[in-house]
Amino acid sequence: MSPRPRFHLTPARNWMNDPNGLVYVDGTWHAFFQHNPEGTDWGNMSWGHASSTDLEHWRAHPVALRHSDDEQIYSGSVVAGDDGTLTAIYTSAYARGIQAQSRAVSHDGGDTWTVDVSNPVLDRGSSDFRDPKIVRMPTRPESGKWLMVAVEAVERRVLFYASDDLRTWRETGSFGPVGPDGVVWECPDLVRLPLDNDPAQTPWVLLLSTNPVGADPDPAGSAMHYVVGSFDGETFTTQNTGLERLDHGRDFYAGVTFDSAPGDEAIMLAWMSNWRYAHVVPATTWRGAMSLPRRLSLRTIDGQPRLVQHPASPVVRQLADTAAATDPAEPITITLHALIELRWTADIAGKVRLHLAGDGDASADIVFDPTAKTLSVTRAGEAAQALHPDFASTSTAPLHGGSRTGRLLVSLDGPLLEVFINDGETTVSNLVTLGSGTVTLTVTTEEPGSLRTLTLVIAEINTSESGVEADSAFTTVSPLSSSLTTTRK
Ligand code: FRU
Repeated sequence: MSPRPRFHLTPARNWMNDPNGLVYVDGTWHAFFQHNPEGTDWGNMSWGHASSTDLEHWRAHPVALRHSDDEQIYSGSVVAGDDGTLTAIYTSAYARGIQAQSRAVSHDGGDTWTVDVSNPVLDRGSSDFRDPKIVRMPTRPESGKWLMVAVEAVERRVLFYASDDLRTWRETGSFGPVGPDGVVWECPDLVRLPLDNDPAQTPWVLLLSTNPVGADPDPAGSAMHYVVGSFDGETFTTQNTGLERLDHGRDFYAGVTFDSAPGDEAIMLAWMSNWRYAHVVPATTWRGAMSLPRRLSLRTIDGQPRLVQHPASPVVRQLADTAAATDPAEPITITLHALIELRWTADIAGKVRLHLAGDGDASADIVFDPTAKTLSVTRAGEAAQALHPDFASTSTAPLHGGSRTGRLLVSLDGPLLEVFINDGETTVSNLVTLGSGTVTLTVTTEEPGSLRTLTLVIAEINTSESGVEADSAFTTVSPLSSSLTTTRK
């Protein structure tokens, strides 16, 4: 059993899946999320709620939108009005089998909500129409001030709707199907990002999650993708034929961005699990976690615009305050809550391997291979095998670009392992089963002697308890200290 993460958002209790209604308002980041208020398994879907002033320390709030006998509250989004009013647009999954979009409004920062009397506000009579994400359209208000992206999940289509009042919606176009079949499309988002920091070039990026379905579903399970293209105020088009993988691990799903983030930045949270085995991940009083928040940008790599991800949590600053480990050849014992940074010259070191050994035979291996141009993450051991037949596995990510410098940022927080390669050009996020004790970290290189040219920095994160602080509504969860210290100076 892994301990609760310390610098990631987890539910104070019970089940969590997709992030919903991510919004920044009045200096506070709000994260709503798919939540079962009554148990640690999926069901009774409602919106949980947590908030943070720094994207690192989270406070739990009471359930925001609650299911009823004939309606579950599926994924959706929130936008902030100029007066701080929050409007939620979410999927009502009715017991009669219809999925349609509904609206609710909050005047108290998301603690209490009033649902629209005319709900659902958008109904196609479909059983798979879901996951509305509202996007501001300041540059093309003539089409509608607000854009909704949602999916016809089984048809593998993203639908676009425009509105001026978040109530009356006009369909303006659709995208898909593209890419492999045998999946449903879920949780779309559309973000506009400058390419190579050039404000004159701002393509649109469609974000999308796919989940295998059918008689013989892909054992790799659910995954996130993106497509770079353009949006003319009505619909999205692209020159590209396929979907690019957004994260190459097994556990990064349903990621969406915050509305109204400072500086119009695209900050994403994703659910760190996989529908293939989410239900059997060991749990006691809670189950599910969000990824580190990630700042998205676009960079030209090998002549192509690619999505780049940087951790947007202040926790990573702790690395800057920490000195390099003196002898990276020696195994180092660390806690299960640490940030690890490795830098080296790729053509001197050859393959670089970072081995994390946990309780018993549990391990996670991160291998950077400059010849094969891959980064792989393997989780192994009896605990991984026992969890689910598809859990013990290797995720392999292609390395793009001709960089001669290797750079890894590894975040380990209990069961959550996220690897950022070469300044966020590739990411691999996985749940791991390293146990509850300490971890022995060993770094090896293929070329003898090249360890001397490698820089290893480790910052252990010592927040005293968990990554979510309960508010007074959660009497059964003890409050925690929010102080952070670094032991390895
Ligand atoms: C994605 C998803 C969404 C749906 C929600 C239900 O993980 O299946 O399509 O709205 O979860 O919990």
